[in-house]
Amino acid sequence: MEGKTKIVEDFGNYVILNFKDDITAGDGEKHNVLEGKGAICAEITAISMKYLNSRGIYTQFLDFITPNKIKAVSLKMLPLEVVVRLKKAGSFIRRYGGNEGEEFKEPLVEFFIKDDERHDPMVCKNHLVLFGICNEKQAEEIEKSAKKTAIELKKFFEKLGFDLWDMKFEYGIDNEGKVCLGDEISPDTLRLRKKDGIFDKDVYRKDLGDPLEKYREVLSACRNLNLL
Ligand code: C5P
Repeated sequence: MEGKTKIVEDFGNYVILNFKDDITAGDGEKHNVLEGKGAICAEITAISMKYLNSRGIYTQFLDFITPNKIKAVSLKMLPLEVVVRLKKAGSFIRRYGGNEGEEFKEPLVEFFIKDDERHDPMVCKNHLVLFGICNEKQAEEIEKSAKKTAIELKKFFEKLGFDLWDMKFEYGIDNEGKVCLGDEISPDTLRLRKKDGIFDKDVYRKDLGDPLEKYREVLSACRNLNLL
């Protein structure tokens, strides 16, 4: 199965996620190929998911296969994007106003259904059940787990000198029916900031320079933890 930024090869009891060099924004309207991007995002995903596993969060990550592949738990992925916000940015400000970087008192979880044609509409937990995306118990679990994961990831990136503003998670169901965090955790799916810089896909979205230069800085900080 091939998506915008990944190819998933199914081997029955596990899958191989093959990270592509493609980068997209605006529901795929903006698209480029940046050589080496897949390898950078795969390794950052591997390191951060391995860290989350060690913090008791169930992720899809099993093994990193250099340079750009991850061996992962086989999941039935839900057509859902779960955004957790710690600070205001992006579509939150476009929808509700406020200033970039204003902090929320507690993590804010938003659900979006994956549907490029409808520009990934935001929905609430009731819609998830109504549309048959998951059941009520799973929806509750996803929300709880997303908040916990956001707090752990914030600590992880703090150790590396980055401030995590917001992030997007994707979840799947494993063959025992358990909810598992899947897909990717990388500067493509996180907003990572320092006082003097942007280290995430906003560099690409807003044409602020070479995104890979920034992504490489995130990777080299992750590597310093020697987790792989
Ligand atoms: O655009 P928005 O402010 O809703 O994005 C919130 C977070 O989710 C950002 O970190 C962004 O990179 C991520 N995101 C994503 N994929 C999408 C939409 C948002 O990774 N399709």
